[in-house]
Amino acid sequence: MTRFYITTPIYYPSSKLHIGHSYTTVAADALARYHRRLGHETYFLTGTDEHGQKIERAALAEGKTPIQFVDEIVAGIKELWAALHISYDDFIRTTEERHKKVVQKIFKQLYDQGDIYKSSYEGWYCTPCETFWIESKLKEGNLCPDCGRPVEWTKEESYFFRLSKYADRLLRYIEETDFIQPASRKNEMISFINQGLEDLCVSRSTVRWGIPVPFDEKQTIYVWIDALSNYISALGWGTENDELYRKFWPADVHLVGKEIVRFHTIIWPCILMALGLPLPRKVFGHGWLLFGTQAEKMSKSKGNVVDPFVLIDRYGVDAVRYYLLREVPFGADGTYTEEAFILRTNNDLANDLGNLLSRTTQMINKFSDGRVPEPDPASDDRILSDLAAEVLREFQEAMDRLEISSALVALWKLVDRANKYIDEQAPWALARDPGRAGQLRTVLYNLAETLRLLGVALTPFLVQTPERIWDQLGLEPAQVRTLSWEEAVAWGGLKPGTVIRRGSPLFPRIELPKENGDSVAKEGRAQSGEPAAGAAQPTEGVAEIEYDDFAKVELKVAEVVEAERIPKADRLLRLVLQVGEERRQIVSGIAQHYAPEELVGKRIILVANLKPKKLRGVESHGMLLAATAEDGSLSLVTLDKPDFPTGMRVK
Ligand code: MSP
Repeated sequence: MTRFYITTPIYYPSSKLHIGHSYTTVAADALARYHRRLGHETYFLTGTDEHGQKIERAALAEGKTPIQFVDEIVAGIKELWAALHISYDDFIRTTEERHKKVVQKIFKQLYDQGDIYKSSYEGWYCTPCETFWIESKLKEGNLCPDCGRPVEWTKEESYFFRLSKYADRLLRYIEETDFIQPASRKNEMISFINQGLEDLCVSRSTVRWGIPVPFDEKQTIYVWIDALSNYISALGWGTENDELYRKFWPADVHLVGKEIVRFHTIIWPCILMALGLPLPRKVFGHGWLLFGTQAEKMSKSKGNVVDPFVLIDRYGVDAVRYYLLREVPFGADGTYTEEAFILRTNNDLANDLGNLLSRTTQMINKFSDGRVPEPDPASDDRILSDLAAEVLREFQEAMDRLEISSALVALWKLVDRANKYIDEQAPWALARDPGRAGQLRTVLYNLAETLRLLGVALTPFLVQTPERIWDQLGLEPAQVRTLSWEEAVAWGGLKPGTVIRRGSPLFPRIELPKENGDSVAKEGRAQSGEPAAGAAQPTEGVAEIEYDDFAKVELKVAEVVEAERIPKADRLLRLVLQVGEERRQIVSGIAQHYAPEELVGKRIILVANLKPKKLRGVESHGMLLAATAEDGSLSLVTLDKPDFPTGMRVK
């Protein structure tokens, strides 16, 4: 059976974790869920890296013992992972006995075989990073090349690991395999090794908060040997109970942020080589999630950390997970802004996916008595089924390359195509023609089946939405989950006759917050220039006209077949209207009076021969009639015979 072992870095519990840390963990979770869904035996490890001077100092500053201090933070980290539905199999803490024993065993073995030796060390030391630096690597002004803070000249007796001994083997491994990804990070590491590797200081005599060197109590094991060993200590390597180690090692993927790629691709493989253990198959270095329009690194001192709990409370776990997985191509740096978050949620989740489900279930209710219809073989088209097969292939290939964001882009091709399919096939028109009843059944079936499949493919990413989709389609989520991947993605899984359960919108649209909202709204009005189409005109001072003048205005019955908000314009909706055989797009200033969902299916009156005009960049080919009361409330002019056909002239 295929096995898959994935890890996140173990986080420093020095302060609360922010959205950047959540990014790594949600990505690892998506990959773990994906492999589990494929039926692979999967092990997903995360945890905390609790030793070192920084933690000791932070605890002291709060008048706590280090263990009290980390216990509290670790509890918060576990709560965060629960809120994000992180499906880890194990959470390792480096302060646990099971870990300490393994680290001491590793240290002793390397010492006994001569790979660790005692010497004294003098050098430039960065206390926050707990790293010694050779002078040539420092930034100008004696600053740490990683964090940019001043380094101190430090001298002490320490143990050293013969890193240099393994440099050639390591270089070969890196050059000949896909061990380091993305490729840009591989090249960085190759040139780093080519500059020459120095032996590594692996113990400290000045740090107390750590694992003691087993044969020299004055020395504490230096954090990177301690931290990196978690990937095998959690599997029970070197203990009597090493079943997990035998099953899952070597790791398939260590997911890490770009600044710790070096530790994972140089120190860690050398330790493993010295221990005679297999090397991990892949280290994937992702970029950072930066903050705001200035793209700053999130930090407590800058006061720009985004608290994931707040986002989850406000927008729901799936919106947060989707944003993290979709927004930034995995590997590159990305920037978080609340506006981008809201736009992403509104566009992809509320509009594209949410509307697809709500339109489909609404039409099944209306045209098929609330039951999934039997498709008609005579009028089968393979538009959605063929695309679904193609998109699922692309999605899998992208996930196998760890390109999570591309996998979502592939799935949204199907979402977009399905929305377009509704417009092209116009089920409301088919419903009026008894001769096309078979085609109507096929179209509705294809849409519902596409949504079922999307639910399946979205399970690695979203944790509540797939079940909500299946539930609205009348399926038992537990049943869908027990199917094998092949069964679940085979076209035709949805049984005709299933009674659907239309529910609330998947993702309510989010209004931009006031501070941003004001400027966005102002911009929206200024750009529209004059009252948006659909807003009523004042009657005072309007001249009398002849009948011929009135006859110049072409009024027609139209049905709203699609409605959506226009991003960054809080008053405008984009409507697609059916006008007889014709399709029209108009922009209407009624967003504050009608939700897009309530408009679909309504018959309204269209001013059909109004000159086209662009509003907020969207073409408007006409306007609809509405009455405005003195208090500003608005009522659309509709027909009292709602079945009156569209395209009819109104006089
Ligand atoms: N304890 C070490 C890792 C040891 S692994 C054997 C550590 N901890 S950390 O808490 O500082 O960072 C953990 C991970 O979070 C790193 O991979 C880091 O890149 C990631 N991130 C921290 N802030 C981040 C962003 N703003 N954006 C993306 N990832 C970020 O390093």
